[in-house]
Amino acid sequence: MRRSIPLSPEQHQTLEDRANQVHPGLLEAIQSTSQRLGCPVFVVGGAPRDLVSSNQVGDLDLVVEGDGEGFARALAAALGGKMKSHPRFFTAEVELPGGRLDVATTRQECYDSPAVLPSVEPGPFKDDLRRRDFTVNTLAIELGKGPPFAVQDSYEALRDLKEHRLGVLHDESFIDDPTRILRGVRLESRLGFRLDEVTERLATGAVTDGVFDSLSSDRLRRELFRLLEPIGSIETRLQRLGELGLLSVLSRDLQLSAEDQAWIGRAAEKAGDLPADTADVEGWRLAFPALLAGLDRTAVESVAARLALRPNEREWLLTSRLDLDHALELLRHEESRPSDVDRALGPLRSEQIALLLAVTEAPVVRQVHVWLDDWRSVQLSLTGQELLEAGIAPGAWIGRALDSTREARLNGTITAREELDFALNLLKKENSGAEIE
Ligand code: CTP
Repeated sequence: MRRSIPLSPEQHQTLEDRANQVHPGLLEAIQSTSQRLGCPVFVVGGAPRDLVSSNQVGDLDLVVEGDGEGFARALAAALGGKMKSHPRFFTAEVELPGGRLDVATTRQECYDSPAVLPSVEPGPFKDDLRRRDFTVNTLAIELGKGPPFAVQDSYEALRDLKEHRLGVLHDESFIDDPTRILRGVRLESRLGFRLDEVTERLATGAVTDGVFDSLSSDRLRRELFRLLEPIGSIETRLQRLGELGLLSVLSRDLQLSAEDQAWIGRAAEKAGDLPADTADVEGWRLAFPALLAGLDRTAVESVAARLALRPNEREWLLTSRLDLDHALELLRHEESRPSDVDRALGPLRSEQIALLLAVTEAPVVRQVHVWLDDWRSVQLSLTGQELLEAGIAPGAWIGRALDSTREARLNGTITAREELDFALNLLKKENSGAEIE
């Protein structure tokens, strides 16, 4: 049974403000285009869900009963935007100065075989809602008719929103599309909701039945990496992956120890406090060095293959933990010089630095901070060009001399003014057969 609940004045204002951000007068343009073309237009999914539960609105996903592409083209023309269509999927994007609108023709889907993308054909609005992942994502607001707007609830979404419950619409949902289990864990974390009992049983049953076996590597990687984005509590999401049996999708007996779980959680916090000039943190790179530590090289290689990682990502995954352990060993060694620390930390990514900062020993943490605040940015004033001008022939020795000079600067054995003499001395020694230190 479909219920229709009018938007409150605040909700109306939030929706209008969000639409105006994308393009001033967007709601009026949607209404007039919908009426001119005679096709009903709805905003569905995340936007009405978040509007009702937290009076916020993110992306506006529109669905059009009839000709979605034609509607997108007409709307883009009316607002001076650009339209790109994907006829195979009956979807289109309208690019406007303030953002993008995704427009889809209402569809029905036919899942020819489990876990494989369905064949799609236009269908009535009610079928479009039924093909969605969770009840809370089935709320819709018809924009085409214009204000006053109301939220249409066809699948008890409002009840589930109130009870913080994620429930599937039918028993085959995870068999049709296993990525929904990963989406479920992500939504649990993002919304503070929980899969309901039946839905959780369907999820674990589908995992046990091997529904992920036929899921493509690209779809698995995309959903998993999105789930591991370092927003909110990454360690709780990892724990849920374990509870639902999803870690075994990566490697048969993979488990996350409570210790590693806490370590990843602390690292995610530390990652948020890293200096602004360090590279962006990717959640999977925070989690995997700890999560996969117990696996041998062959098992890690098969995780990389299952996720179809790019060669440089695969290489990183294979060495990330070793590099981390090596750095830890140096940081724990009392006689390590600043140049040793710099050599160990320099090649690490920010995720590994965050993992190091999340170990509990204060001396290690102190050393990493000194490196971050100081040593990391020590620059030579000496350049290779100056060495060439001083009569040194071009060659790999110039780079080696510069590296060694920087190490001497880091260790405080020379000052900036002594760099040139130091480097020339080294090169002289090398020339006479002695090794550069
Ligand atoms: N959807 C689905 N099954 C999927 C992917 C998406 O049913 N495997 C539906 C959901 O109902 C979702 C809508 O498509 O609300 C839009 O998907 P997407 O844009 O990917 O939503 P998210 O960005 O994941 O999150 P939000 O719900 O906040 O928009």
